[in-house]
Amino acid sequence: MRILSGIQPTGTPHLGNYFGMMKPAIELQEKGDAFYFIADLHALTTVQNAAVLRANVRELAVDFLACGLDPARSVFFRQSDVSAVTELSWILSTVTPMGLLERCHSFKDKTARGFAASHGLFAYPVLMAADILIYDSDLVPVGRDQKQHLEVARDIAVKMNEAYGEIFKLPEPSIREDTAIVPGLDGAKMSKSYNNTIEIFAPENVLKKKIMGIKTDSTPVEAPKPTENSSILGLYKLVASATDYQAMEADFLNGGVGYGDLKKRLFAGVWEYFSAQRSRREEILADADLVDRVLSDGASKARHVTDAVMARVRKAVGLV
Ligand code: ADP
Ligand code: TRP
Repeated sequence: MRILSGIQPTGTPHLGNYFGMMKPAIELQEKGDAFYFIADLHALTTVQNAAVLRANVRELAVDFLACGLDPARSVFFRQSDVSAVTELSWILSTVTPMGLLERCHSFKDKTARGFAASHGLFAYPVLMAADILIYDSDLVPVGRDQKQHLEVARDIAVKMNEAYGEIFKLPEPSIREDTAIVPGLDGAKMSKSYNNTIEIFAPENVLKKKIMGIKTDSTPVEAPKPTENSSILGLYKLVASATDYQAMEADFLNGGVGYGDLKKRLFAGVWEYFSAQRSRREEILADADLVDRVLSDGASKARHVTDAVMARVRKAVGLV
């Protein structure tokens, strides 16, 4: 089974990225033949500064490896190292109805937030379909926000198969409902665009300050506290054992413990949860060209697959 996913290098990886995308991807690498890539071509739609993009790619690669992506098991590479994906994207675009892209929420959301309505942003789901189809992917682990893009990829695959015969497999999304939405510091979905993120590898003092700054209501210490929509509980659930979580939930329901203490417990939980990953990250940072070696080796393996798929596609559409 071929598993594939990508993540955009648009900033420092946070707990939403970790629990929503990186952790499920890392767990799935045991289950099949996994391909994971850094979607730098996609990031160009929003990050238009070469130095920033380069730094983001590096940081994402380091953090993903530190969190457990194992290059001995998974093929880990940079999207732009496999240039055939842009060729396939063009071919797919010739069968993609405008209406399919016009219905996509992400384009509307991003332009509403002030990003320029470029053709790249509009055509983003076509490139994503190419990413998926060019690796003959069976399963694509993504966050819930990417569900519509997976449907677009399947629609495009169907259109290609109708026009040219059975050239593409239809990919299935894998969306974990339990961690589908990680809450941010303000209770809304954690996202770089909302400025409410907790970075996975924030230094201890920064992490503490962020967690102590989580928005809470004015319930007094002795009173029971609302558990619904609490970021403290929502985040604690992700990092704590079942027993520790239940103990905190009881403290919410019974009252008698203030938000400050609950936040301190959350901080300790998050810090502890990533302790092995932090040591691994130090090792990775100490090996100056490890990331380059991993990504270049991954790119060769990826190109090996895409060469075969593209030969099939070019033949089917008449480009040979
Ligand atoms: P951001 O919203 O911070 O810009 P991205 O859109 O780049 O994050 O998301 C990268 C990956 O991380 C995607 O697979 C997305 O589904 C996942 N992800 C991001 N934020 C969250 C969240 N709060 N909860 C669950 N998954 C998330
Ligand atoms: N669009 C995805 C995101 O923003 C990243 C991505 C690009 C991707 N290509 C992909 C995810 C292919 C899965 C498969 O999170």
